Amino acid sequence: MKLDLQFVRAQFPAFSEPSLNGWAFFENAGGSYPCIQVINRLTDFYMKNKVQPYYPYPASTKAGEMMDESYRSMAAYLNVEESEIHFGPSTTQNVYVLAHAMRPMWEEGDEIIVSCQDHEANAGAWRKLASQGINVIEWHVHQETGLLSLDDLEGLYSDRTKMVAFPHCSNVIGHINPVKEISQSTHKNGALAVVDGVGYAPHGFPNIKELEADIYLFSLYKTFGPHLGLMYVNKALIRKMENQSHFFKEGITKSMLTPAGPDHAQIGAAKGILDYFDAVYEHHFDQEANASQRNIALNTMFRKHEKALLEHLLEFLRSRDDVQIVGPDQTTGRLPIVSIIPRHKSIAKVYASLTEQKLMLGTGDFYAVRPLMDMAIPLEPGVMRISFVHYTSMEEINQLIAGLKNAL
Ligand SMILES: Cc1ncc(COP(=O)(O)O)c(C=O)c1O
Repeated sequence: MKLDLQFVRAQFPAFSEPSLNGWAFFENAGGSYPCIQVINRLTDFYMKNKVQPYYPYPASTKAGEMMDESYRSMAAYLNVEESEIHFGPSTTQNVYVLAHAMRPMWEEGDEIIVSCQDHEANAGAWRKLASQGINVIEWHVHQETGLLSLDDLEGLYSDRTKMVAFPHCSNVIGHINPVKEISQSTHKNGALAVVDGVGYAPHGFPNIKELEADIYLFSLYKTFGPHLGLMYVNKALIRKMENQSHFFKEGITKSMLTPAGPDHAQIGAAKGILDYFDAVYEHHFDQEANASQRNIALNTMFRKHEKALLEHLLEFLRSRDDVQIVGPDQTTGRLPIVSIIPRHKSIAKVYASLTEQKLMLGTGDFYAVRPLMDMAIPLEPGVMRISFVHYTSMEEINQLIAGLKNAL
């Protein structure tokens, strides 16, 4: 099924916003445009239901219902249980809370493996456990390709390994890691798999059960939604963790990992992402399907569209000897997160030219400091990153290519 891009873009007010007219957006890995369904739910919540939820008066009951709908529909789309979904302020903060909740599960001298392909969100909080008696083992990336090797991982386990933290897809390398295979390997070695899905989820929500990860995190503000982090935590695992909320929340798993109390309105708005997915599904497909099946159909369609655009972009980049592609230069196993380094001009100069040509991109280290260090790429100026999602058009890719031809 071919994606009806006109229909898709009509769901995003940014594409009809006069001040953005003519600008092509390639910093989606930093944060995507929100869809209208999310904006409407957030506005509705603020206009009609901005009260403490779950009381029996109508405005409050409705607020609670809106929040419950988000838990329910997220769980259905991700193929996990509702009680396994937790919303926090961001992925960084969710991992921070997890590190505190999980430390008491481990003994002095136990080991955790932390990948060097991660954004610091899924690295820093774990690495800090070194000061609390945990041995932190680094899983380095290949210096040239930026890829993680499973063979390397096999060599890092010991009988004290408790956890492996790694990304589904790095926000600078763009390569998709085989999460299921890695999770199975960690389990075989008696350890837990903690997966940062922030880079991956904007390109299709994962079937989390299928991936066999124990913990999977992503950020809704990069998946067309409000500024929240979502984490899946296996329901048996959470009961082994230390409660991070008030003492009287002990045993109430919905609260144990959200010490600050969640942002009600944004949780209520989160279902808008799935309303958007449903609208796209209904526009393209006739068959009745459950949420997980709809998700698979949408992923296939989104990925096909993204891949055609990525192929065109990579073909152009490969044809140039004045630019280095960081990470794989083919579409296989890759998402449209492409970091590049100009060979003859400074990043600042190229970037300024692209901005003049109404192209919105990002530059720097993107908090992916460890992978850049492993690849010996100087953090200053870092890389220039091109990232797009399924709502991006071939016209925008051509605008980018034309812009790069002028700028490089
Ligand atoms: C791969 C990856 N992981 C984690 C994060 C951090 O997410 P948050 O801003 O929700 O803490 C980012 C943010 O850019 C990211 O790209």
